[in-house]
Amino acid sequence: MTENDTSTVRDWLRGIEVFARQLPEFVTGQAPAEPVELFLRWLADAVDAGVPDPHAMTLSTVDEAGDPDARVLILKDVDSSGFRFAGHASSPKGVQLTGAPRAALTFY
Ligand SMILES: Cc1cc2nc3c(=O)[nH]c(=O)nc-3n(C[C@H](O)[C@H](O)[C@H](O)COP(=O)(O)O)c2cc1C
Repeated sequence: MTENDTSTVRDWLRGIEVFARQLPEFVTGQAPAEPVELFLRWLADAVDAGVPDPHAMTLSTVDEAGDPDARVLILKDVDSSGFRFAGHASSPKGVQLTGAPRAALTFY
């Protein structure tokens, strides 16, 4: 499959299986009050299910122009005070977080 196969890329993407397995039900009323407790439960489920690199996460930030940026990092620690990762302060993510100290984390 190449980018030039424009007539078939869409069909190819639509043909890739998604949600092939049974998805667990999420009953909000039974969720723990603390989000970190729920997160750790889900992460443990992912480890048990053999999800590769389940502690890999996408860290999204914005640059000084407000343009979004994102990259994959490994989660180093988490508790009620927040999620921790390691990276160089001089890297683009470090510079962006210094200028705009807000971020989104996405786990699959
Ligand atoms: C599975 C995986 C885990 C990674 N973990 C880290 C990490 O923990 N810390 C880090 O600085 N970069 C990590 N990287 C590299 C980052 O994705 C990224 O390329 C790098 O940090 C530079 O990002 P930046 O230029 O946006 O600052 C990882 C990459 C992959 C694919």
